[in-house]
Amino acid sequence: MDPLTIKSVLVIGPSGNVGRSTIKALLDEKFDVTGLSRTSSQATLPSGVRHVKSDYSEASLREIFKGQDAVISTISSIVVGDALASQKAIINAAIAAGVKVFFPSEYGIDTSDRSASTYVPFLADKIEIMDYLKANEDKISWTALVTGSMFDWGLNIPGFGGWNLSTHSATIFDGGNIPYEATNLDQVGRGIAKCLKNPGLTRNQYVYVNSFTITQNEVLKALEKNMKEGFTVSQGSVEQLWKEGASQVKAGEPLGVLSMLSGAIYGKGNLAHFSSTRGLWNDRLNLPQESLGEFLGEYLAKNV
Ligand SMILES: NC(=O)c1ccc[n+]([C@@H]2O[C@H](COP(=O)([O-])OP(=O)(O)OC[C@H]3O[C@@H](n4cnc5c(N)ncnc54)[C@H](OP(=O)(O)O)[C@@H]3O)[C@@H](O)[C@H]2O)c1
Repeated sequence: MDPLTIKSVLVIGPSGNVGRSTIKALLDEKFDVTGLSRTSSQATLPSGVRHVKSDYSEASLREIFKGQDAVISTISSIVVGDALASQKAIINAAIAAGVKVFFPSEYGIDTSDRSASTYVPFLADKIEIMDYLKANEDKISWTALVTGSMFDWGLNIPGFGGWNLSTHSATIFDGGNIPYEATNLDQVGRGIAKCLKNPGLTRNQYVYVNSFTITQNEVLKALEKNMKEGFTVSQGSVEQLWKEGASQVKAGEPLGVLSMLSGAIYGKGNLAHFSSTRGLWNDRLNLPQESLGEFLGEYLAKNV
């Protein structure tokens, strides 16, 4: 029996991409679940979840966090605004309320490598929050879930990572044989829930999980097989992809960060192939890996 037992869990940003999957997985694992939204939020949550709202003042958060064992931040990293940086005040309130474990809004590129912000600028905010948590780990434990590319999230954005499912076209970068980690949103949620089931193992750790390790060529083959149609394929270079994004960001176009992110996923900085460098936690957490072909079959039937 783990001496640190987690029963009550509060999710910040419960109706977002990661938030929805997290709520689902926590309910499946029978946690007592609360979702926290901004006062202005129009979010609606599934039954079985307590929904509270806050102006995010420290006093309000402290009150709401009382009695919670864990706080999971799935706060947005949308590049305009300071949502990621606001986690510092959230952590202070969690400490004051006696919360045992805090999950910062990570779920992507491996920020344990401090060079990550060179390749994707908004990761500087994530690294700063990790530094803050490490400096305060005698007061609150943390777990940073690293998931690489959010696979199904990316497929929904035409052009992201070179994929366009509606026009059956793809750009393959540097030959398409670069392995990278990809994790579906539901697997991210399950990863969070499994970490909370094993708090002694996962406290103060970067935890590396995925759905599958894949290459672009494997994805292309699986897409063509499932869609029963060939794709129009063009070739690109990772360096060019990343540089185009960096130039856009420099010119004040925040969405250029999506190309920088894709470049990082396809190998720039070597930040998204952690199964070979850090090792996966899937087995330790009893979190099965998924099959690319099976997943795409189900995903395409529902979404395309
Ligand atoms: N690796 C990848 O490919 C990848 C892809 C997507 C996301 N991610 C990561 O996953 C994390 C969550 O992203 P997401 O896409 O799930 O986020 P999201 O859907 O954009 O937003 C999540 C929630 O954050 C809340 N929120 C937004 N701005 C806020 C603010 N200023 N203060 C407080 N709450 C705010 C909103 O909840 P309410 O309206 O309920 O308040 C929103 O629903 C981020 O760290 C992101 O970088 C990684």
